[in-house]
Amino acid sequence: MPNPSKGRDGEPPRTVRDMLARGRDFLVRKDRQAARLEAELLVAHVLGMGRLELFLALERPVEPAEVDRARGLFVRCGEGEPCAYITGKREFYGRDFQVEPGVLIPRPETELLVDLACEHIRRARSVREGEGESEGQPQHGPRVSEFGTGSGCIAITLALELKGARVRASDVSPAALAIARRNAERLGARVEFLQGDGLDVLMRAGGADLLCANPPYIDPADGRGLDPQVRAFEPQEALFTPPGDPEFWIRSLIDERSRLVRPGGSLLVELGFDQAPRVRRLLAERELEGRFHADLEGTLRILEVPLR
Ligand SMILES: C[S@@+](CC[C@H](N)C(=O)[O-])C[C@H]1O[C@@H](n2cnc3c(N)ncnc32)[C@H](O)[C@@H]1O
Repeated sequence: MPNPSKGRDGEPPRTVRDMLARGRDFLVRKDRQAARLEAELLVAHVLGMGRLELFLALERPVEPAEVDRARGLFVRCGEGEPCAYITGKREFYGRDFQVEPGVLIPRPETELLVDLACEHIRRARSVREGEGESEGQPQHGPRVSEFGTGSGCIAITLALELKGARVRASDVSPAALAIARRNAERLGARVEFLQGDGLDVLMRAGGADLLCANPPYIDPADGRGLDPQVRAFEPQEALFTPPGDPEFWIRSLIDERSRLVRPGGSLLVELGFDQAPRVRRLLAERELEGRFHADLEGTLRILEVPLR
């Protein structure tokens, strides 16, 4: 196996710049698509720096112990382990979330769901203010629920971005909830976490003004087409629906919408890259209106269903 910490000349790296270059070349040889970024994240982790700080320290000499540690991490990454599980964190919406095997690694496309959720709540707030929220009526912050919180990245981000919002989030996985609770505490977010299988726990907790979900949406039969790294390392219950029914959770959320969301509120659900046409049919069969939002690549990623 090529040694990630030795150059072609067989010399160990002397500086941060060398270490980055050796790691990147090693990961390129291992066919890692994001070799440069992963090399930066791993070296930054070993040196206890932020990724951007690295570029101010390129000529800093590296110690033999640092070289050894980096070597171990590059080998794991070269063998397919996700970089986020190696470093124990992934950035989402500008904040670091702790992750470990047992919890889905937050994805950049999910940030669109957070953008839309914030827009929705701010729009609803300004409508209420414009209508001069009647005096004497109980005032409360918006209630936001999330189904399937995983690392807590959606619920925690919303609690931090939407001042005054009351956020609750559920998951079936105690391991995921433990990580979500740690993330909330570390980031200073107030979120009520509920453990439960399915939607009942959120329905029992009462209707929200907005329900967000990035549910499992992959049919196990399509799992073969999945990135082998995702299949091998990420939790099955976060990825897969019941066999033959990739719309299981989306359909359940739509059908139970009036027990999850109050009139005037909305459902926001992340979809798989090819799911929108099937979900459109599902809405048509129920004579329901829904809006699809595209991500930066033009994929219809988020379904919004308003509750009348
Ligand atoms: C695709 S992951 C989303 C995680 C996180 N919200 C995110 O966007 O990164 C789906 C989540 O749903 C949870 N989940 C799967 N089946 C569930 C069920 N029957 N009841 C409650 N949660 C479930 C999984 O544990 C997982 O955390």
